[in-house]
Amino acid sequence: MKMRVNLSKMYVDENIRQAVNRVLNSSRYIKGQELENFERDFAGVCGTRYAVGVSSGTSAILLSLMALGIGAGDEVMVPSLTFIATASPARFLGAELVFADIDPETYTLDPADVEKKITPRTRAIIPVHLYGHPCNMDIINGLAKKHNFYVIEDACQAHGAAYKGKMTGSLGDIACFSFFPSKNVTVLGDGGMITTDNPELVKKVSMLRDQGRTQKYLHEILGLNFRLSEIHAAIGREQLRHLQEWNGQRRKNAAQYRALLNRPGIVTPVEREWAKHVYHMYVIRVKRRDELASYLNENGIETGIHYPVPVHRQPCLKSDVRLPVTEERVDEILSLPMHPFLSEDEVDYVAATVRSFVEG
Ligand SMILES: Cc1ncc(COP(=O)(O)O)c(C=O)c1O
Repeated sequence: MKMRVNLSKMYVDENIRQAVNRVLNSSRYIKGQELENFERDFAGVCGTRYAVGVSSGTSAILLSLMALGIGAGDEVMVPSLTFIATASPARFLGAELVFADIDPETYTLDPADVEKKITPRTRAIIPVHLYGHPCNMDIINGLAKKHNFYVIEDACQAHGAAYKGKMTGSLGDIACFSFFPSKNVTVLGDGGMITTDNPELVKKVSMLRDQGRTQKYLHEILGLNFRLSEIHAAIGREQLRHLQEWNGQRRKNAAQYRALLNRPGIVTPVEREWAKHVYHMYVIRVKRRDELASYLNENGIETGIHYPVPVHRQPCLKSDVRLPVTEERVDEILSLPMHPFLSEDEVDYVAATVRSFVEG
């Protein structure tokens, strides 16, 4: 029997509606208690001293780079198999992007390629915990220390993931999260968070997100408006309460997929022994990927490709660099439905449909 299975699904309950109503009735819509509470709770989940709410994951990355003083003449190392917003903020600030290739199995930055591409101008690296699998942070942090550059985690897909038992968001100098609707934690709109242990950076990003001010009419530095609203903070805090349970459900779905898709011709996601993967996306690899996606679509199953065009091949950021692993992977990756509310029957159905295509 044909089923309809969505790629992702958002959650709204009575507590969330009440939280929104509470803010609506409070007549305080920005810079209030909801934001402070969400920031405190989020820092608690990440095990960092601080968290600063901002308007999106993109602005979290931009503000982190600004707070670190990155700009013209600097090089920022990034992967290319990622969402464009990992890379575009550095270009906006006038820095040069240096693209490094990825590990062929985890799709996260390949530390060996990173090392080859370090120059005296390298000022920062942005490792992306892609699909919810953390990067190999000890090696990256070691290189950063040795060559004196900053580590900005792009944890936009990795709320609640861990590396050697340490939470993402606490693994570099500063980290960035997105609360875009499909993320493991969402504010049901746009929103983001910066986490760090460094009080100087907190002071800077807090001022930069709010017109560079410390008091109402005193603008000490040039800033802009990248604030997170009270309504979004209240929703995010309610969503955050479910993070552990939801990540558990994602991991359970992933285990079921893995057992059912362990077949020749299908490569399922790898989880390194030092990683806690939170399966923001469940990405398999197959030949004839586009044909499989159409077949799944005909059978009511929504899929995605994260990402069909790597960043170094985007018209706005084109580079001549060759990234053999990235370039090969982008033609084979396919994101299957993954969210905490998938039923066992739905996972069964998706896996059976994938297998019927692959096994002919
Ligand atoms: C890896 C990565 N970086 C950055 C972003 C940007 O976040 P946002 O869409 O909240 O600006 C996203 C999410 O969309 C992402 O997945």
